[in-house]
This record gives sequence, C-alpha cells and structure tokens, in this order.
Amino acid sequence: MELFYNEKIIKACELIKKSNYTVAFTGAGVSTESGIPDFRSPGGLWQRFRIVTYQEFIFDRQARHEFWRMKKELIQEMINAKPNNAHKALAELEKMGFLKHVITQNIDGLHQMAGNKSVIELHGNQKGFICLDCEKSYSINEVINMLKEDELDLRCEICGGIIKPTVVFFGEPMPEKELTMAQKIANECDLMLVIGTSLQVEPAASIPRIAYKSGAKLIFINKAETDWDWMAEIIFYDSAGKVLKDIVETI
Ligand code: APR
Repeated sequence: MELFYNEKIIKACELIKKSNYTVAFTGAGVSTESGIPDFRSPGGLWQRFRIVTYQEFIFDRQARHEFWRMKKELIQEMINAKPNNAHKALAELEKMGFLKHVITQNIDGLHQMAGNKSVIELHGNQKGFICLDCEKSYSINEVINMLKEDELDLRCEICGGIIKPTVVFFGEPMPEKELTMAQKIANECDLMLVIGTSLQVEPAASIPRIAYKSGAKLIFINKAETDWDWMAEIIFYDSAGKVLKDIVETI
C-alpha cells in the first residue's frame, strides 16, 4: 500500500512539473485540520445545524436566530483557526511557481493567511458583514460584541436594517466576477488539484467539470469518494495536509 501511495505522489509531482498552468479547487476538507468542521462528513455542520436559506434569512426572524446561534458557536473556531499543512503546501507551490490560482468554496480566508496571492472566493468571506438596507459594513469584532449581548437578530445601528455576513447563502447568487473568473481559469488550466470537497454544491462544483471538459488533468485529494472521482487522473483518499506536504517535499 505504501509503495502505491509513493508512486502516486511521484506521478502527481511529474504532472505538476510538466504542467504550464496548475490551479487548485478547494472545499471545507482543506480546513478541517485547522479545527474548522466541514459540512457533510459524519458530525459535519449540516448534521448539527439546519441550513438557513437566503430567503428565510431575509423574511423570517426565527430563521435569523437559528443562523446567528450557529454563527455564535462557530465564530471563535473561525477566528482562532490557523493555516494547516494543506494551506501551507499550496502557498509553497505558488511561491515555487507551480500553482497559479486557488479557487475556493471556503469563507475562512486561510489560503490568503497561508500566503497565496491569487485566491478566488466563490462563496465570499466570513470576515465581512453588511447592512442590507444602508450597506454600512461591520467588522467581525463588532458582530462578536453584538452576539455577546445575546442579540440574535443583528440590526444596523444607523438604520435598523438586517445585518448579513458577506458570504453566499443557499438561494443567493454567487458573485458574478468570481464565478466568471473561475470559469475562465478552469477553461485555461491544464492541471487542477481538487482538494477537500464533496462536489455537491452547484454551480461551484461545475468548475472541476469545466476543467475536465477543456482537457485538463485532475488530481483529487479527498477523504471520501465523490460522484466525480471518475474524472481524476490520480485520487488520494487521504488527508489533504499529509498528501500536499508530501508533494511539496517530493517535488
Ligand atoms: N483531507 C481530505 N479530505 C477531507 C478532509 C481532510 N483533512 N476533511 C474532510 N475531507 C473531505 C470530506 O470527506 C468531504 O468529502 O472534504 C469533503 C468536504 O465536503 P463538504 O463538507 O461537502 O464541503 P464542501 O464540498 O466544501 O461544501 C461545498 O456547501 O454548505 C455549502 O457553502 C458551503 O462551501 C460549502 C459548499
């Protein structure tokens, strides 16, 4: 088994070295080793909390309470989280000139914190909060203070409007600029590292398919199987931190 793993590492390094345009596409699985739970693994967030859609958040006070109760529980894990070996390895690959972009579904900002310069956030970033009426922005610390006062329907101090994180909710369109950029990159790249994602949420999950259809090779690194594993040239059913660290040390 070990030999097989090493052979795959060597083959992955060869593909990366041969490639002129390698990109990474990441999901929540790249941040679990930083202490941030993912969504669909056993014990993941969607087994602990109900998904609140954009429409519910806007129109239903009870739904906003549910959302902020989840946020209150997670926000400490999020702001204390540090980049893990997977993030560090991707930053190293960019520094070595082997990786051009990271396209991520994550909102935790850990790729940027690890040092990647080109990061496209398809689902926004959890560090931003905005009033939906007057668009006044609020910092994560201001929001933490409001949550401390057990306020679970955060309202703008200027106009009383609903405060919402600048992340994409289910039922909310993805940011046009980021989606277009990600589609362009997927069309142009010749190798895509697909890391820590169950590929169950559209249109984000269409990005690796666009790369595959445009002739790119795909390397999957994911602890569980996905419906799209057949697209992969190489699959590692293993920890993203371990595999990416071994790739950087071997390359
Ligand atoms: N190493 C490798 N793979 C891992 C690791 C790890 N350390 N930890 C978890 N995984 C795998 C899991 O097996 C799972 O298949 O990462 C995948 C994470 O899948 P999801 O929890 O579905 O997360 P993701 O694919 O990013 O979800 C996409 O759904 O809820 C929305 O907006 C949210 O961006 C999110 C989107």
